[in-house]
Amino acid sequence: MEIATFVFAPILVASIIIILTKIARGIRSAVPTTKRGRPPPVSSFLGLIPALLTKGPLQVINDCYAKMGSVFTLSLFHLKMTFLVGPEASRHFYQGLNSEISVAFDVDYATRHEQYRFFGDAMKPAKLRTYAGLMVGEVEEFFGRWGQSGTVDLKHELEQLVTLVATRCLFGEEVRGKALGEVATLLGELSDGMRLITILLPRLPIPAHRRRDRARARLGDIFSEIVRSRADKSCGSDDNDMLQCLIESRYRDGRATTETEVMGLIVSALFAGQHTSSSTSTWTGARLLAPTNAKHLHRVDYEVLQEMGALRRCVKEALWLHPHGMMLMRHARRSFVVRTGEEGQDELEVPAGHAVANLLVIHNRLPHIYRELERYDPDRFGPGREEDKAGGAFSYTAFGGGRHACVGEAFAYMQIMVMWSHLLRNFELELVSPFPETDWNVVMPGPKGKVMVRYKRRRMSGTA
Ligand code: HEM
Repeated sequence: MEIATFVFAPILVASIIIILTKIARGIRSAVPTTKRGRPPPVSSFLGLIPALLTKGPLQVINDCYAKMGSVFTLSLFHLKMTFLVGPEASRHFYQGLNSEISVAFDVDYATRHEQYRFFGDAMKPAKLRTYAGLMVGEVEEFFGRWGQSGTVDLKHELEQLVTLVATRCLFGEEVRGKALGEVATLLGELSDGMRLITILLPRLPIPAHRRRDRARARLGDIFSEIVRSRADKSCGSDDNDMLQCLIESRYRDGRATTETEVMGLIVSALFAGQHTSSSTSTWTGARLLAPTNAKHLHRVDYEVLQEMGALRRCVKEALWLHPHGMMLMRHARRSFVVRTGEEGQDELEVPAGHAVANLLVIHNRLPHIYRELERYDPDRFGPGREEDKAGGAFSYTAFGGGRHACVGEAFAYMQIMVMWSHLLRNFELELVSPFPETDWNVVMPGPKGKVMVRYKRRRMSGTA
């Protein structure tokens, strides 16, 4: 079951996306590139099943890479999925035009492009400055409820805290007031409704889907009410959250965002940031608590956060060791040529119609770019080394890159660093459960099981 979920889910997601995208938009066959190369080597997915069962998926993918190189195709019946590994092979994946290599959207690309501008506006430094203060407030209040000493499941605690921080900064007081109650429960039900079977039969009347549909409807009610009450304010609002930004956003032709669009965007931002941020927070902590660590600061605000280089590198290293997903996906609308080989001398042509996957799990860990792959070593990203920069563009893609790079990266770093700088300065912490394994049995892998941590409040001065 574990292997099946891990391996089939992305392939099924890709095939469904391709089929639905084609049906919905009537995409015609892509025009081939003028430049021709050989097709990538192909392996049958079915032929890999015995190896998958004995060696596990990660090893099988590594073996495919070792045998076939940085561009190869797996075929499963009609579906062809081409895998790209490494910065050179992945250039077009990240930089290609949407008309050539696309992400599936529920609106046309031009509209989506403008909507990402709205997200971008909500993540500008002036906004982040405001969010930093809100984050610090949430974090202080949350950990203020911990006792003098105790043992907690850190994963659960940080999931709750990420929900509170995200809802406060993105949606404001109204939602924040309900975050740990109704909204958190509804979000949990939405996530729980994302099963393997959902990819094939999204409307199958199973209890999890019914709960998902009820949760979606109720969330819709809650958010609509808030959007409407904000819109009703006659002389503008002094709310400083992302919701207000999206309500006030205008398309280039002057059109205002609709209530439905605003709701869709805030829910997608919440989902994009929720699991990724909470599992990265837990991995950061689990890694930090293993070796000795220390960067104790006396105050946290936007400027100080910009200077927390060491802690930032710890978050970056945690994501490097524990990517939030196995791969990123696209659909090749036109064929394209990629260069491979040490000198870039080989040209392979990925045909139109293929699902294309950038394998994050290998891509970010290539031995010709990074040293000591198994070592927890945040300083690999530090001054004088900067292994990712030395490796060139797209050497570190934990937040994607190019046209679809994560719009929440700065926000995510800030919230994780606010949490961990507070924890490290205010508590002595000890990991009392074994170092967590990765749970590959879910669509977005994270730390498996509980992550138990013993804490003792430090006696110290400081504001946060
Ligand atoms: C540690 C936390 C996070 C990680 C690891 C992460 C990772 C990523 C990655 C890899 C992508 C690119 C997907 C692709 O190329 O197909 C992405 C896109 C995106 N992320 Fe994040 N993300 C994080 C936090 C956030 C947060 C906090 C927000 C919002 C508040 C956010 C909003 C988005 C959005 C809207 C996109 C879509 C961008 C586009 O397609 O143009 N993310 N994220």
